[in-house]
Amino acid sequence: MGEELTVNADEAWLARKPLPQALVDAYYPRMNPIVVAGASERMTVAKQELQEGLNRLLGRSVAVETSLSPCGGLWVGTLADLKDESWARSLPQEQVDDLESRGQEAYAIWQVESQTVRVLAIVGGSDRGVLYGVFGLLRQLASGDDLDAIGGVEAPTNAMRMIDHWDNMDGSVERGYAGQSLFFRDGQVLSASPRLQSYARLLASVGLNAIAINNVNVHREESYLITERYLTDLARVASLFRSYGIRLFLSVNFAAPMELDGLKTADPLDPEVIAWWQKTTDMIYRYIPDFGGFVVKADSEFRPGPFTYGRDHADGANLLARALFPHGGIVIWRCFVYDCQTDWRDRKLDRARAAYDHFVPLDGRFDSGVVLQIKNGPMDFQVREPVSPLLGAMPRTAQMLELQITQEYTGQQRDLCYLVPQWKEVLDFDTYAQGPGSSIAQVTSGRLFDQDQSGIAGVANAGNDYYWTGHPLAQANWYGFGRLAWDPSLTSERITREWIRQTLSDDETVVSTVSGILLDSWKIYEDYTAPLGVGWMVNPGHHYGPNVDGYEYSKWGTYHFADHLGIGVDRTQGTGTGYVTQYHEPHRSRYQDLTTCPDDVLLFFHHVPYQHRLHSGTTVIQHIYDRHFAGVKEVRDLEARWRRIAPALPQEFAEAVGERFRWQIKNAEEWRDVVNTYFYRKSGIADDKGRFIVP
Ligand code: GCU
Repeated sequence: MGEELTVNADEAWLARKPLPQALVDAYYPRMNPIVVAGASERMTVAKQELQEGLNRLLGRSVAVETSLSPCGGLWVGTLADLKDESWARSLPQEQVDDLESRGQEAYAIWQVESQTVRVLAIVGGSDRGVLYGVFGLLRQLASGDDLDAIGGVEAPTNAMRMIDHWDNMDGSVERGYAGQSLFFRDGQVLSASPRLQSYARLLASVGLNAIAINNVNVHREESYLITERYLTDLARVASLFRSYGIRLFLSVNFAAPMELDGLKTADPLDPEVIAWWQKTTDMIYRYIPDFGGFVVKADSEFRPGPFTYGRDHADGANLLARALFPHGGIVIWRCFVYDCQTDWRDRKLDRARAAYDHFVPLDGRFDSGVVLQIKNGPMDFQVREPVSPLLGAMPRTAQMLELQITQEYTGQQRDLCYLVPQWKEVLDFDTYAQGPGSSIAQVTSGRLFDQDQSGIAGVANAGNDYYWTGHPLAQANWYGFGRLAWDPSLTSERITREWIRQTLSDDETVVSTVSGILLDSWKIYEDYTAPLGVGWMVNPGHHYGPNVDGYEYSKWGTYHFADHLGIGVDRTQGTGTGYVTQYHEPHRSRYQDLTTCPDDVLLFFHHVPYQHRLHSGTTVIQHIYDRHFAGVKEVRDLEARWRRIAPALPQEFAEAVGERFRWQIKNAEEWRDVVNTYFYRKSGIADDKGRFIVP
């Protein structure tokens, strides 16, 4: 193993390895000295980041000066600062106007050459833009892009680029697989933790601009986060994140007026309740002047909400939005609302329908300042689900897409499952809400319905683990989430290569091997777990490992309905739950009709006999056998591929990943045996390749 190689775990993809000498020789004169205009806190962060980053990439110190050298250098500042620079007069006015029109978070990298000076400039729409520009230039250099080809304006596609923590104040993390909380321990806020700064830096480096730090399931003590008991500490956290351009949000308990102050009701239309939220919100803003707002899980999985008082979600969300709005805050209201007490005997009840059924009738009733946060699929972050039909179904309401970076149902950061390709599929999905070209990316960017507060949120996968994410390669999910939230048009391949080159190595064999491993992993995970979009089949509660009937006879509304004749959920119109009608055409007909329904979601939409023939040419039962046998082989192959490049990698890192691949092989074998045996015994149909099924 490469013992002399090290990996800087704390800095993850920001560790910055030296560029090849030929590049250093070419780049150094163009980046020395650095001049940073302005001295705001964010500009200071940008300056440090740039100087330190270049020192490392170039392997020698760049000077920070107050003016460029007679031959030029690297200039950094905002559009406003640019006006004082004589060299900037040669910039075409349209170019400057274009940057100005792209907003405060935009930046440009320009190379300006006059007869006397050659200036490389990072210009931001504001100091936030500058910070993104600095990270952008360093990322491109570290990813191996040619400096001469770097340039132009970059602006985030999504206004909200958010990370949601499900952290509790005792330090535990709901669905966390990477150690303990970065924010809390033993009921305290870790506001002075050095790791928080490293975290803020990593988030900003991929362009994230909002964070909710506590679990959406707000328990007793966490309800007090919006009181003076914790606001001094939270103000410190907010200020640290502010210097990286990130706004702080808190998840709140809808029944807080009752739980914290003994009000008799939390009815959103009650004057006392309205006054309570206003007073509380005003106080929060005295501590945190740029507080982002609240995240709310209401009337879902036993959380309190407006239903108790005969009110609806618009009443509930508007109550909070009206308290936040005067201060510039918003309420992010989650649409993960369904009845978790349904009866599996009633085949007409369908959890997949719930979010759409609850929220679509409310379109137009939400105040500005309410953003609905919607999971990518109608169920719950499964390895394969169709895209939620609620996304794009409410033209008069701002929407955010909610993704799960933490791998609850996708291997829990023991198994490798690189989710960027899945998220790309979601973002590229055309809803047809306004005819062709109405992709989810158009919805989250706000362009489809002219909304300015839409965006993307991801449930965090980082904790106080040495590598941040448990499985070291799970870092790539976090990195990729940020990059996609900034620019959904980036390809999975580009994002993957960027992460590998910055984190591990620029050796082409390493880059292409790790890239292949990451890009194949989602499909492989799908191969050995629940088949053909039906989902679940996990152990109830913790959700790791196979248990085909684990949720089959439960009230949680997650079924596959397998019997000796067939499997799948009939969600068609007519014989089924009618869920398909929530889609626009052509999806509605495509999913409704067995002959056009895509194989990968077949069992999500249809109940079919085991001998039903897929478009792939094989039968459902044979597909189940084949994919589960293949899945195990593929995981073994992932491990072998990893072993081949391990000597070229930092030893510790290579071993940590290798160990997890060995766990993953065991898990895949268990899935194969459990699933194949189950369906062999249920169906009585032999494997047509004659393999040994019953372990
Ligand atoms: C899933 C997950 C829960 C979480 C919930 C949510 O059901 O298992 O832990 O609270 O999603 O998104 O609210």
